[in-house]
Amino acid sequence: MKQPILIFDSGLGGLSIYKKLKQTLSSEVYYYVSDSKNLPYGELNDTQLIELCLPIIMAYVNRLNPQLIVLACNTASTLLLPYLRAQLSLPIVGVIPAIKPAAQATQTKHIALLATPATISRNYTQDLIHTFAKDCHVQKIGSSELVQLAEHKVRHHTFCTQTLKQIIDQVDPKNDVLVLGCTHFPLLKTEIESLLPKSIRTIDSGDAIVNRVETLIHTSNDASIQQPDTYCDTQNISTKLKENLKHLGFEHFQTYVPNASLFTPELL
Ligand code: DGL
Repeated sequence: MKQPILIFDSGLGGLSIYKKLKQTLSSEVYYYVSDSKNLPYGELNDTQLIELCLPIIMAYVNRLNPQLIVLACNTASTLLLPYLRAQLSLPIVGVIPAIKPAAQATQTKHIALLATPATISRNYTQDLIHTFAKDCHVQKIGSSELVQLAEHKVRHHTFCTQTLKQIIDQVDPKNDVLVLGCTHFPLLKTEIESLLPKSIRTIDSGDAIVNRVETLIHTSNDASIQQPDTYCDTQNISTKLKENLKHLGFEHFQTYVPNASLFTPELL
């Protein structure tokens, strides 16, 4: 059995990263862990997030012995990366807002960052802006509603267009780049872009993460070997969601139960 790649997010947003990884590194085995019970992370304070998230990640690391972790959550990465790296010796790829590529791409020197309220307020994000976008005006928009819209889209294939429009209308037309600084947002990329002026392009961290993972994995990428992936959640997985996830490549499903036997496998 290959050592899996562990992908973690508060919910279904990290699927935007999983899809890209799966396309490029198709013979890897993926465990996707979603902490849906505690979503949205963008509304939690630092202590709450650390206390909720670290034990779940550590439990999966101990159980699966993954070759690598992708922390597919900007909200968690901008806070937890130092804690995780201090405790674990395996490579951890964090997903952080794509401020640097946005600052390189902008012509107008006006960029917008759309992220969760917590990511917007993090020192980590301020430091990214200070280091890479000092010469730019950065409009910051925090939204947990957009996280919920993306969740709804994956679960039910619908979402409220009016709410999306209200959020996207906040983007100042002076910007020419919009950073999608939450892994949930690329799941609505087409819809977001259809509401933006044509002069604004979106940027996210997905491709950079795939490139980074590719340099760190130690198994061969033989596309002829396909192994099933596992989706794990801290709350029950509905039949509808299972159906939707099966289309993406997941075949096994588990629910996580803290402090009990830890895992209840639901093999289909
Ligand atoms: N997907 C997450 C991120 O990239 C967080 C969404 C949330 O739970 O607030 O920030």
